[in-house]
Amino acid sequence: MTLTTTPAWQALASHAETLRPQHLRNLFAADMQRFEHFSLNRHGLLLDYSKQRVTGKTMTLLRNLAEAADFTGWRRKMLDGEPINHTENRAVRHVDLRAGDTAPVEVKDVLQRMAGFCEQIHDGSWRGFSGERITDIVHIGIGGSDLGPRMAVHALAAWQQPDLHVHFVSNLDSADLASTLTRLNPRSTLFIIASKTFTTLETMANARTARNWIRAAASDEQAIARHFVAASSNLAATAEFGISPKNVFEFWDWVGGRFSLWSAIGLPIALAVGFGNFARLLAGAHDIDEHFFTAPADSNLPLTLALIALWNTNFLDIHSHGVFPYSHSLALLPSHLQQLEMESNGKRANRDGLAIDYPTNPILWGAAGTNGQHSFFQLLHQGGAPVASDFIALGHSDFPLPGHHSGLLASCLAQSSALAFGQTVDEARAAGIPEHLLPFRRFPGNQPTTTLVLPELTPFTLGQLIALYEHKVFCLGVLWNLNSFDQWGVELGKQLAGRLVPCLRGEASTDALDASTRGLIEHLRQFRT
Ligand code: F6P
Repeated sequence: MTLTTTPAWQALASHAETLRPQHLRNLFAADMQRFEHFSLNRHGLLLDYSKQRVTGKTMTLLRNLAEAADFTGWRRKMLDGEPINHTENRAVRHVDLRAGDTAPVEVKDVLQRMAGFCEQIHDGSWRGFSGERITDIVHIGIGGSDLGPRMAVHALAAWQQPDLHVHFVSNLDSADLASTLTRLNPRSTLFIIASKTFTTLETMANARTARNWIRAAASDEQAIARHFVAASSNLAATAEFGISPKNVFEFWDWVGGRFSLWSAIGLPIALAVGFGNFARLLAGAHDIDEHFFTAPADSNLPLTLALIALWNTNFLDIHSHGVFPYSHSLALLPSHLQQLEMESNGKRANRDGLAIDYPTNPILWGAAGTNGQHSFFQLLHQGGAPVASDFIALGHSDFPLPGHHSGLLASCLAQSSALAFGQTVDEARAAGIPEHLLPFRRFPGNQPTTTLVLPELTPFTLGQLIALYEHKVFCLGVLWNLNSFDQWGVELGKQLAGRLVPCLRGEASTDALDASTRGLIEHLRQFRT
């Protein structure tokens, strides 16, 4: 029996027939307590899903689906360290990285070494090859070894340590590294080479160029030890690169790249905001772990987010998901979530290797409010494409200035309200819009949204927020019966790129290539001679 023919799925399908034509206006009119009925709270983190196109019955049927998918059993398997990433035969244990006193010994050991390293950088006892204090950290990594720490450092700008600048380089395009290095002094710059595998093309190319940059300035091989540390699970490769074992912060194959910011990959966060704040970030995530592993289905925040996502995707045919943090500091959150959700759940084979015949993860995108209101929101309101969105608001600003925050919050609430309820022609007329403009002032509404409110943006609440989305991803994988923890889909392009390099250099024949790729290579070759 495939997922879509199970009784739980079929019950949702027939329920969707009655709910699809309903407008959020009707749902709100039918239940004056919709906010109370469709919102959850965990230690101050509020999740309001009353503007989703669901009723109590929808949620009950969705929870039945979770039960039929053995959500509780899969959650237990993850906690017990079973190899639920079965295509790579790996456990999925990122929650162990933030388990505090109950974390495994090897995790505590690395955290302690990270704390010691941060102290040396912050108190100036770690010196560069010429005896200068380190003022700039360049974190080189890509994908999961970049997006999480980059987002967190940006998000915690209000907690930034003085006199230390943390930069991120990820792109193979030399413009990324070159434009960063021109601003820096090799004597006072330290590189973190962050790569789980320590084989990733982009990261290794940037790391080698950075090593040459230090060598050229120091003309002494010993300088490498003062200017390079690594976060990796491949200790043989870090040694071969020339990084001293005492400068390698290890993590393990049971930490997926997009779940790795809690591991040594988070070193730039600890350097940027201090190790104590990094520990608070871990504590925030642990708080959500405790909630996720113990809360019943009807009050479980990550499961609720996942059920809503599945409902929108598979029963309301909404395949686009916007994330709009009304927080400038959270501007990079959509990029992090893009990898977290799309690399995890954008799959076409189920756990048994059978073709999936239902849509999986929607396209996730987004930008910080209010900026998005002046670019793409027009389409959300009147363009006709169905989009489900998450709005994220902060109770307090992390950089308060008089007269800003109320306007920001009002904009956030106004947008989700306009998306939900729209504006009818009669309402526009009553508001005094002239007749000839009425067609242009109609807003259909019925675009579903969820609003998350953090009391304030701190290391702890940021940890809560990220962990919330991580567990949402896990739940969706369970519901869709797929493995959220592998990423075979990125392999094909990598293999092809490897084969095309010699063609671009004119060292291999292009005859076997498709006409477009061959034509483009021939065109590009003229620029390379
Ligand atoms: O894009 C594929 C991927 O394997 C991601 O999953 C991972 O986060 C990224 O590459 C970087 O890998 P690594 O940390 O091994 O350099």
